[in-house]
Amino acid sequence: MNKTIEKIVSLCKQRGFVYQSSEIYGGFGAVYDYGPLGVELKNNIAKYWWKEMTQIHENIVGLDSGILMHPKIWEASGHVNEFHDPLVDCKQCNSRFRADELSENINNEEWDKIKCPICGTTGRMTSPRQFNLMFKTQVGPVEEAGSEAYLRPETAQGIYVNYQLVQGSTRMKIPFGIAQIGKAFRNEIIARNFIFRTREFEQMEMQYFVKPGQDNEAMLDWKNKRFNFYIETLGINKNNLRFHEHNKNELAHYAKEAWDIEYNYPFGWSEIEGIHNRTDFDLARHEKFSNKNLKYFDQANNERYLPYIIETSAGLNRMMLAVLVDSYWEDTDNNRTVMKLHPKIAPIKAVICPLVKKDGLPEKARSIVDILKPHFNILFDQQGSIGKRYYRQDEAGTPFGITIDHQTIKDNTITLRYRDSQKQDRISIEKVLNIIQESLI
Ligand code: GAP
Repeated sequence: MNKTIEKIVSLCKQRGFVYQSSEIYGGFGAVYDYGPLGVELKNNIAKYWWKEMTQIHENIVGLDSGILMHPKIWEASGHVNEFHDPLVDCKQCNSRFRADELSENINNEEWDKIKCPICGTTGRMTSPRQFNLMFKTQVGPVEEAGSEAYLRPETAQGIYVNYQLVQGSTRMKIPFGIAQIGKAFRNEIIARNFIFRTREFEQMEMQYFVKPGQDNEAMLDWKNKRFNFYIETLGINKNNLRFHEHNKNELAHYAKEAWDIEYNYPFGWSEIEGIHNRTDFDLARHEKFSNKNLKYFDQANNERYLPYIIETSAGLNRMMLAVLVDSYWEDTDNNRTVMKLHPKIAPIKAVICPLVKKDGLPEKARSIVDILKPHFNILFDQQGSIGKRYYRQDEAGTPFGITIDHQTIKDNTITLRYRDSQKQDRISIEKVLNIIQESLI
């Protein structure tokens, strides 16, 4: 089946999952807005990540730190000096590229021999120059030295600079973790592939603080746990997932070891999540730049040390794109497109349809709406033929259809339609809530 990204983009727009930002002004590069279905799906994915990364672990707690932070944090973290992408320009057509996308060996490449993939001209490519990906902004009413700040390019640093406060308030002992979900910003040189690489995005990161020497074991453990999340919690086909280990040239400035979880997107295998051994790099740098002692005191052994950090860092938007791609199904036998979302992450759990707009059926349908709506999102729909109503909801990923007909008035039964099989069961109204709730586990 041809799961092109164009088809998914089009369905997302039509059904209200994702829109291009500022569309009436011609769009705004590499920023997307999440429509009524998109925000529900994104929130549901984030909810399950949060549950899995905090609630079920006694030694992991949450945090919500600011997007703006002291600018010295980004000097300490290495982002001011190291967070660059190599950029090349075609002087013929002014197109801009990440150098590593045009050549595997950017330092030894003869750039004047490279052909521009956009206009086809050879001999007009500049040599690479380094481009910092952080967005700068001004803090305070006047633009003066010292008022410059950055929009955070990762949520991780907010965790590191708060780690002692969190440990002090919770009395947690190492190993322990701190999780955070929040926006991050990167001035990506080229942003493409829909919501895969954008300039504003959401990260879901968990930083796990361990005793040095116990980092390898923790790394293995979190690699397994995170890989399984995609299969067991999100319901993604495991054949579309794999690990990729970073070689020395790929490692970020802070990492000793790094593994990506990759998904088989329509544009190729690409990273959804990184699991990194950051050692004590960040805490050591913050000690140096803040002049504060950031060591952890291990009371039982009467020793002080800087913990090592194992980081799990996922992009919520990329995760949502993987879910959308994985669930996209063209049911050619029935001439319909279905988003086979797992019921627990589906934006709407059931559509409730009176067969006709008369004979008391809409009122009866509304009484079922009232039973179900305190428990989950449902939709009342009486527009168009029943088949069209169902097909619209198949594209929205709604797992159940409930139809109220004349027999409902007589015996309090409805038909329950299952999205993927289109099978229909006649069941009593009393049972509906239970059946849907059981599917959400
Ligand atoms: N704290 C570590 C860190 O930020 P990263 O590999 O640069 O590591 C982690 O980013 C995750 O954030 C990626 O796996 C990806 O899912 C997401 N991400 C990074 N840049 C992104 C972008 N421009 N658009 C969407 N998601 C992005």
